[in-house]
Amino acid sequence: MTRHLLNISDLSVSELRAILDLSLQQSVRDAQPLNGQGVALIFEKPSNRTRHSMEMAVVQLGGHPVYTRGEEVGFDVRESVEDIARIMSGYHGVLAARVFKHSVVARLAASSTVPVINMLSDLSHPLQALADIITMEEHAGPISGLPVAWIGDYNNVARSLGEAVCMLGGTFSLGCPLGYDANDEEIERLASLGGAVSQSVDPLVAVKGAHVVHTDTWISMGQEQESQSRRKIFAEYCVTSALMKAAAPIAKFMHCMPAHRGEEVAAEVFDGPSSLVIEQGHHRLTAARGALAWVVGK
Ligand code: CP
Ligand code: NVA
Repeated sequence: MTRHLLNISDLSVSELRAILDLSLQQSVRDAQPLNGQGVALIFEKPSNRTRHSMEMAVVQLGGHPVYTRGEEVGFDVRESVEDIARIMSGYHGVLAARVFKHSVVARLAASSTVPVINMLSDLSHPLQALADIITMEEHAGPISGLPVAWIGDYNNVARSLGEAVCMLGGTFSLGCPLGYDANDEEIERLASLGGAVSQSVDPLVAVKGAHVVHTDTWISMGQEQESQSRRKIFAEYCVTSALMKAAAPIAKFMHCMPAHRGEEVAAEVFDGPSSLVIEQGHHRLTAARGALAWVVGK
């Protein structure tokens, strides 16, 4: 069976733990599991962290990354997603894509004969969640029983983080405005993965007792036309020092970046002593190695 990484919740708990373990093992680099193989990195949207961490992880594992802009392959424009998957499978050991529609990366996986990695879709961002878990376990302790809060938009990053936290037995507390929150079905789905999930429209309620407070942009890539309305709707969801004070005294702040100081997070929090954002960003490389090694591992 070809291994893909499209969503965290597609994995079993032991597979998720295996990827996290591989990420942290020096022996993975020594083994050079991508030796002589290409890895296609296709981006329909901009990227800094994901592109650089994936390119360097491929190099560290002995492979050769081939960066391609989405419009160059033209999913369903220049040719079908299925034709692209079948052709590229003959060149590369892994295909990775950042796409607008999650269905595109799912169709790539369905037609590819080599592993496919989702480098962010409208639905999820599994590579980010892996880095988030590695960072939290390093700085806040084991996820099992860890109170983790998410403030702002229940978006792709939130969904993958929530899945990972719940699968590893953490508690996930959402503070999101109505209409940008997780619906009842989604809350049930997350809870069914193994964690405890709660949600409030009040960010002060959501952060109460949290050991880690996460947020992300209010305006994800592709939502630029909603910028004005979103800035109004999310105005009360900025992670300020006052909000951090309502969390546990030891609480850490995390953000997948890129960040907007003065919008979703106050500068003094983002740049303050409780912020893990740089370590978190650096762990994208750690996580990319684990994800690549795992998908080619069988
Ligand atoms: N966090 C993240 O995925 O960043 P980039 O969009 O810069 O890759
Ligand atoms: N939610 C953001 C994450 C960026 C890394 C987006 O999709 O644009």
